[in-house]
Amino acid sequence: MDDNKPQRRIRYKGTHPKSFKEKYKELQPENYSEDVAKVMQQGRTPAGMHRSICVDEILAFLKITPGQIGMDATLGYGGHSLEMLKCLTPGGHLYATDVDPFELPRTRDRLAALGFGPEVLTVKKMNFSGIDLVAAEAGPLNFVLADLGVSSMQIDNPERGFSFKIEGPLDLRLNPKSGKSAAALLKNISRLELEVLFMENSDEPHATVISKTITSRIAGGMNLATTTQLQELIADALEFLPANERKEQVKKSCQRCFQALRIAVNDEFGVLDKFLAKLPDALATGGRVAILSFHSGEDRRVKKSFQQLFREGIYSEVAPDPIRPSAEECNTNPRARSAKLRWAIKA
Ligand SMILES: C[S@@+](CC[C@H](N)C(=O)[O-])C[C@H]1O[C@@H](n2cnc3c(N)ncnc32)[C@H](O)[C@@H]1O
Repeated sequence: MDDNKPQRRIRYKGTHPKSFKEKYKELQPENYSEDVAKVMQQGRTPAGMHRSICVDEILAFLKITPGQIGMDATLGYGGHSLEMLKCLTPGGHLYATDVDPFELPRTRDRLAALGFGPEVLTVKKMNFSGIDLVAAEAGPLNFVLADLGVSSMQIDNPERGFSFKIEGPLDLRLNPKSGKSAAALLKNISRLELEVLFMENSDEPHATVISKTITSRIAGGMNLATTTQLQELIADALEFLPANERKEQVKKSCQRCFQALRIAVNDEFGVLDKFLAKLPDALATGGRVAILSFHSGEDRRVKKSFQQLFREGIYSEVAPDPIRPSAEECNTNPRARSAKLRWAIKA
């Protein structure tokens, strides 16, 4: 069968597909470039793809040359990898890691179809906290990129449970084949633990009342299993807010609480700390690392680690301030708005 041949249109009610599964064009973006371009012009991201952020800024800093060996710690849709591969060929090699067992093979195949197969690209389904294992295989790395967090494909797929706006299982794992889902975590958490989780991971101002509502409903027999059930519980907890500001506040609290749970189920701070600690030994002398973060807790860790290792003489130079995406990029891709890029150079 020809994999590039567009699949038959999936049948749906009405004039436009409504559910994620019905978006047959967007789920095969490589076969519908005109439709994809139209969606992007409207400042949206097509459901089956991810738009890479700060690509020019990252390439300008990494200064990749042909023959270099590097690592994309967060392969995702492979947008950054593709641009880095173009710079390192001929002769170089890119190692790319991701924990997502569903998107990783699709991205590997997409990049292979573009001419970047195993001779230049080694894709590994593993956590980037194992960067030492990659360096042991690849040798000292000339450059490393980490674009933290989740991809648009993960957010948009209701089955993954990342979005409170669409009904789906309350999962939030980057790798749903390992670890505990958010629903399982909430089943056995105390009110105080949940309050601390919301405060520490996302600075949730209504952490006390939200954690109380969630844990008391579960204790009362509720089977909290879906994203929209959690969204409704958060809305119930914030009933006390004035009507004119409630809707906006509920939305913001949902964003923060979902993010806090995602950070917890994927141990995002823990694996980032391990990655930052192992980075210097994985880099070649003069090797460059760029990290794109979307959360103040991540950015703080990156900044602290870079500055500490700079003071110790392990990095010769570090970003004095984070680089932000241009206003133009933020306008065309709202998901870029919270991005901060930091970099360091190994002494
Ligand atoms: C923002 S996306 C990367 C997008 C990518 N740069 C692109 O251009 O398409 C983040 C990706 O990192 C992956 N990821 C997050 N934490 C990870 C970890 N600790 N180890 C490996 N992959 C991780 C996620 O599964 C997701 O696919």
